[in-house]
Amino acid sequence: MPTGQIFKAAANQTILDAAHAANILIPYSCRGGQCGSCRGRVHQGKVEYPDGLPSAITSAEAAEGYVLFCSAYARSNLTIELCRPDLSQFDLGRPDLGDV
Ligand code: FES
Repeated sequence: MPTGQIFKAAANQTILDAAHAANILIPYSCRGGQCGSCRGRVHQGKVEYPDGLPSAITSAEAAEGYVLFCSAYARSNLTIELCRPDLSQFDLGRPDLGDV
């Protein structure tokens, strides 16, 4: 669902840092392109990874528009989408609600 939120990113600021500076929460963990927690999608615009493609994203995924916001820098105006993390690999169990 589009939120219409707009924020600015400096040329030397990752998209994640720029979003957080604007109080827009993008999930993250490692901040180093290794975990995929910050994965999202760019629908419009161009990003750059100055240190090369991070390990948590393949070139095929990048070609489909997926991006790791912790390592990507905006190189034009962007329209982005946050992706919900896939928790299916974890057994989250059921909450113990006691005697309710
Ligand atoms: S926060 Fe881990 S890949 Fe971005």
